[in-house]
Amino acid sequence: MRVIETIAELRAAIAEWRRQNPAGTVGFVPTMGYLHEGHASLIRRSAAENGLTIVSVFVNPLQFGPNEDFERYPRDAGRDRQVSEAAGADLLFMPSVAEMYPRPTATRVMIAGLTDRLCGASRPGHFDGVGTVVSKLFHIVMPDKAYFGLKDAQQVAVIERMVEDLNFPVRIVPCETVREPDGLALSSRNVYLNAEERGQAVILYETLELAEQKFREPGMTPGELKAAMHAHIKRAPLAETDYAELLTWPNLEPPADIPFDQMPPGSRFIAALAVKFGRTRLIDNRLLATG
Ligand code: PAJ
Repeated sequence: MRVIETIAELRAAIAEWRRQNPAGTVGFVPTMGYLHEGHASLIRRSAAENGLTIVSVFVNPLQFGPNEDFERYPRDAGRDRQVSEAAGADLLFMPSVAEMYPRPTATRVMIAGLTDRLCGASRPGHFDGVGTVVSKLFHIVMPDKAYFGLKDAQQVAVIERMVEDLNFPVRIVPCETVREPDGLALSSRNVYLNAEERGQAVILYETLELAEQKFREPGMTPGELKAAMHAHIKRAPLAETDYAELLTWPNLEPPADIPFDQMPPGSRFIAALAVKFGRTRLIDNRLLATG
């Protein structure tokens, strides 16, 4: 695996590989580093499906709010190299902030509507920062396929919409969430949790299990399901609910408040949670469909 820090060198390496492998496909896994098994699963999938796999590690200042954790976001370049290489990456792109943003960007990618809810409502500007950096990375890498985790389901919806609206010639591949044995979704931010918070963090998974069970109950409505999620999170004394929502998937709109079993079969929803433990904000979600 080759580690590359500049855009020019990365473009040259990809162009050379494409010259030698005209029929080969390029897979891309964008990350902010501090890589764990969740990221590794995306990299392995890309390596299995493409001739060349590129991983980027870039903590993107544009997607952090002024009071968020940009400065203290965990970083470990050595670990990122090891995990990427072991998972089958061919090129690891680790640009500096100055390389990606030599001067403040006058141009931004804004994805309207979809970003008004969930994390978009709690983190104003966050998804404009994500859309802007992902479109820059897509232009730099020009991948055939790009791999995103459903752990950040709203991010998947936003990027799929951006790709459709702006005709990026890339296929977005959504990938299942990788979890700890107790159900907690792997996240670079889990390292912020102390032992007591870590013990209670399983409440997110439990709440989603409950949501799925309630979803199947005869006569259950979206409003009742949402209320049940809110009530369940309160069982963890250290948990502070940022949001607990039930929205349509992938348009992220509030559904009509009629029982799920009266909706057309195949109607899709997302149960989505953001819960704070001290200063640490954890998210998780479950996709649901009427049968
Ligand atoms: P980051 O949080 O590092 O996540 C990189 C990718 O790994 C995302 O697609 C995310 O959904 C996926 N991922 C994280 N935890 C996962 C888990 N437990 N199981 C499966 N996949 C998981 O998301 C970002 O970075 C940034 O917003 C980025 C897209 C790189 C733009 O800066």
